[in-house]
Amino acid sequence: MSTASTHQPLTIALPKGRLLDRLLDHFGGRGISLSFEDRRLVSTDSSGELKAFLVKNNDLPTYVNHGIAGLGICGSDVLYESGYRFLNLLTFSFGKTRMCLAGAKEQIGDHNSARRLQVATKFTRFTQDYFHAKGIPVQVIKLEGSVELAPILGLAPYIVDLVETGDTLRANNLRVIDTLKEIEVHLIANASFYKLNYKRINILIDRLREPQG
Ligand code: PRP
Repeated sequence: MSTASTHQPLTIALPKGRLLDRLLDHFGGRGISLSFEDRRLVSTDSSGELKAFLVKNNDLPTYVNHGIAGLGICGSDVLYESGYRFLNLLTFSFGKTRMCLAGAKEQIGDHNSARRLQVATKFTRFTQDYFHAKGIPVQVIKLEGSVELAPILGLAPYIVDLVETGDTLRANNLRVIDTLKEIEVHLIANASFYKLNYKRINILIDRLREPQG
């Protein structure tokens, strides 16, 4: 019996933001042309094999967990925060960042003696788990963005945030105190979706894979 699903495109969620252009280049270089011009949020490649949804970074795990998109491309920071479990199909060489503890220069060293570390961050789950695992008491203050303001304005002496070039920290007189985790970009799958479509997904993985070395 032929199933309709074999004729339907594979679905993939892609994140809005700084990673998107790099991803579209990567897909384009492998003959998969996707376009989100004119504020369109859905794009199907010319072969009809892949249908992509442009979603907000933090919503991406939700779409894949619910199987709305069977696949997704996302940083390990966002995946960890979601608490969902996915199959990790591929890790890309681009989009690498570092999750760092940062603060004002004069705070360096002080964090070891702080009775309770006060940290402002978007990454509350990661921050709680990281410091709890080390036995360091932490008070986490949730922010949605521009986290670098927290030490400047006195909300919290420390932040946990992504550092790529370090420009944002430098521009705000902050320093990396410690690198807590390397962050990478992954192609992930909803496990049920993968089971149903693994042959076609494996072909896609091979197309997206980067040359070694
Ligand atoms: C991210 C991150 C830092 C900045 C780091 O913010 O939260 O603020 O990029 O990059 P850099 O080391 O290259 O300066 P994003 O641009 O996503 O905005 P946000 O602060 O509003 O989250």
